Amino acid sequence: MQRLTLTRPDDWHLHLRDGELLRQVAPASARQFARALVMPNLSPPVTTVDQALAYRRRILDALPADSDFIPFLSLYLTESTPVSEVTRAAACPHVLGFKLYPAGATTHSEAGVRTLERIYPVIEAMERHGVVLQIHGEVTDPEIDIFDREKVFIERELIPLCRRFPALRLVLEHVTTRDGVQFVREAPATVAGTLTPQHLLYNRNALFAGGIRPHYYCLPVLKRETHRQALLQAATSGSPKFFLGTDSAPHPRAAKESACGCAGCFSAPLALELYAEAFERADALDRLEAFASFHGADFYGLPRNRDTVTLERAPWRVPETFGAEFDLVPLRAGETVTWRLHP
Ligand code: NCD
Ligand code: ZN
Repeated sequence: MQRLTLTRPDDWHLHLRDGELLRQVAPASARQFARALVMPNLSPPVTTVDQALAYRRRILDALPADSDFIPFLSLYLTESTPVSEVTRAAACPHVLGFKLYPAGATTHSEAGVRTLERIYPVIEAMERHGVVLQIHGEVTDPEIDIFDREKVFIERELIPLCRRFPALRLVLEHVTTRDGVQFVREAPATVAGTLTPQHLLYNRNALFAGGIRPHYYCLPVLKRETHRQALLQAATSGSPKFFLGTDSAPHPRAAKESACGCAGCFSAPLALELYAEAFERADALDRLEAFASFHGADFYGLPRNRDTVTLERAPWRVPETFGAEFDLVPLRAGETVTWRLHP
């Protein structure tokens, strides 16, 4: 196949940052995707509908004038989020849920939740109003091996949560393990999972190929090959429970190439090309459209997009840097990608 035309996809897990960095990265996502669910881990975090609406405005202002990209927001859940915020979120068409960051799990998660029981009244209200909970599914217990944190989160937190709130709609974000895939698969239709390009294409060896590779470091961290294969199988299975969420998370080069580098892979400029590569390797290009363009919209109860995008088989070299104000290193920098989004 030389050309592949599909319904324009959406990105259901995206970090766009703020200020000048937002202005630099937002057009890259708008070029590829019609809509995105934008994460609230700014500093300070976006915890209220009012803050989300102001952030949404800043995102729209950061886009080219002719862009029709639609940003949706997720609100950052804290232990002091009031139940009334759930009602407000349920009534706001621009807000698609609340993001649960276990405190300390990842970038800007300090304001996150330490003890899930403390937010049970808020979760109960989300269940009642059908508001989606987007979950960063890792325990933060330093005793737990970093490669086991997703599996242990599912056992310790997620399964009990689902038992207690059986009608809660939730997305296990950036699933990275066979255990995560199995959890989503066996759960009712109210539960879904997003998958990133890096977890479909790479295993943890990529972190140490000939030396330490900070641009392949994200959270949850890349796992063993057996897990990658389970993720790819889930993505290409045709199951409506799995959909595209890049988790593109830009950090300036100096913050990544450091003695204590930040977590996050910046994939926005070539995300769809990377997914196409993963699906092609699994001989499943015919399943890409549903994964990228249908399942997420269906889960969120939104209309599918009507326009299309076209990918061409035209190998190109990913630039070393995606520069302007900030020096950003994209995933796959300096290497070749087979597919190219047209134009
Ligand atoms: C994200 C970021 O930098 O905001 N980093 C990452 O490694 N994925 C935070 C997150 O989603 O965990
Ligand atoms: Zn993320």
